[in-house]
Amino acid sequence: MNSRIAVVPGSFDPPTLGHLDVIRRAARLYDELHVLVVHNPGKEAMLPIAQRMSLLEQSIADAGVEGSIIVGSWSMGLLVDYARDVNAGVLVKGIRSQVDVAYESPMAIVNRHLADIETVFLLPDPAHAMVSSSLVRQVASLGGDVSPFVPPSVAAFLDTGARGI
Ligand code: PNS
Repeated sequence: MNSRIAVVPGSFDPPTLGHLDVIRRAARLYDELHVLVVHNPGKEAMLPIAQRMSLLEQSIADAGVEGSIIVGSWSMGLLVDYARDVNAGVLVKGIRSQVDVAYESPMAIVNRHLADIETVFLLPDPAHAMVSSSLVRQVASLGGDVSPFVPPSVAAFLDTGARGI
């Protein structure tokens, strides 16, 4: 597996400014980046996977993130199987707090046992430390303004959806 190729996996339901920040930082570090929308059976989804992919593609383009970035999806099987398929040697996760460390560490260790793949934790801009997709989903579902927390294309999409336009 190639340590210059990385996967940034997540639910991205919806993509947030915190996600975009991690993607931008990872794109600077690796030659090829797979931003992977993964179906998480433990979470009830708000947006279909194809919609999340399209919002990610738009947000990455709008933000002018440079690099070789592929937006993909994965809903069948282990994350490490996707990593193997694309020859990626690294998984990248954003860490906002000790809560994220506790959530991510067991997954990183399991993935290393499964496929000898390393997980690299990146620290996003503290400005995004409190932003989570679940909070955005809640605010959006109650008709609140999510624009401080998500890329403009995501805010526009959620705003239009909330008004039923
Ligand atoms: O954004 P999320 O929901 O915190 O992302 C979690 C995700 C989807 C990356 C994680 O649940 C995952 O890797 N799922 C794929 C299934 C898998 O490989 N599980 C075993 C190793 S943890």
